[in-house]
Formats: sequence, C-alpha cells, structure tokens
Amino acid sequence: MKIALGSDHAGLSLKIIIMKHLEEKGIEIKDFGTYTSDSCDYPDYAYKVAKEVAEKNFDLGVLVCGTGIGISIAANKVKGIRAAVCSDTFSAHACREHNNANIIALGERIVGPGLALDIVDTFLNASFEGGRHEKRVNKIMEIESK
Ligand code: RB5
Repeated sequence: MKIALGSDHAGLSLKIIIMKHLEEKGIEIKDFGTYTSDSCDYPDYAYKVAKEVAEKNFDLGVLVCGTGIGISIAANKVKGIRAAVCSDTFSAHACREHNNANIIALGERIVGPGLALDIVDTFLNASFEGGRHEKRVNKIMEIESK
C-alpha cells in the first residue's frame, strides 16, 4: 500500500508523527510537503496529494491542517477525490466502507496524536463495501462530470 501525505504548517507536527508511525509499520509513504513550519497555504498541498491519488500513483492519501476542513475542501475539488475529515474512528472506517473515501483529513488542532494514529490505522484497514453504496458513490461521480 502506497500512501501520499501532505499538510500545511498547522498540520506539520501531526503529519510527521503519522509518517513515522506508518514507516514503522512498513507502509510505503511519500510526503508532498509542506516541509517547514513557515506559514503556507493548505490548498497547495491538498492539490499535490489529491492529484497523485486521483491519478492512482498512490492508493490513499492523508492530509493534515489545523482543522482538517480547509485541506479536505480543497482536495475534494479534484475529480475522483473523496476526502473525509475524521475526528473519530467510526467515521474513519465508515468513510471507507460507505463512501469509498480515498483521502482522510485530520486537524492537528482538533485531535491528539494518539487518537489521530488510531483514526489513520482504522481508515487504512477498512475497505469499500460496494453493494448499495456503490450506486451512491457513482452518483457523486456523476455530479463531478456535470
Ligand atoms: C491555518 O491557520 C488554518 O487556517 C488551516 O490549517 C486550516 O485549519 C484551514 O482549514
């Protein structure tokens, strides 16, 4: 499994914690920035990661900003991306199982590192259930092409 990661300055510390955690588990990762704590704009990093995931160069993406909101809104502008902001583990597996989310977004100012790692693990270990959910996800994709 290949995971693309990105953050703005407000999500940098949590992103580094998540990256170390995934590396320790032997998961292949790539960090698309930001790489310093200098103030920057979350849409830039949302786009880099979303593009890689939409082009299927990576299986899934992890984005972090202060709240997870701005970076997920930006990622969802890329065709084929379903980015879900999660602050709990139920949402983290439901967004994969029901919505076939391909990016998870977290807020460093919202969740502590312990919970964040549980959320990421839950997201990565879940899979899309298809069935009745497939029709609904297809309808999301139809909206994209209108
Ligand atoms: C940066 O201050 C902050 O606005 C950003 O990280 C994010 O929370 C936006 O949604």
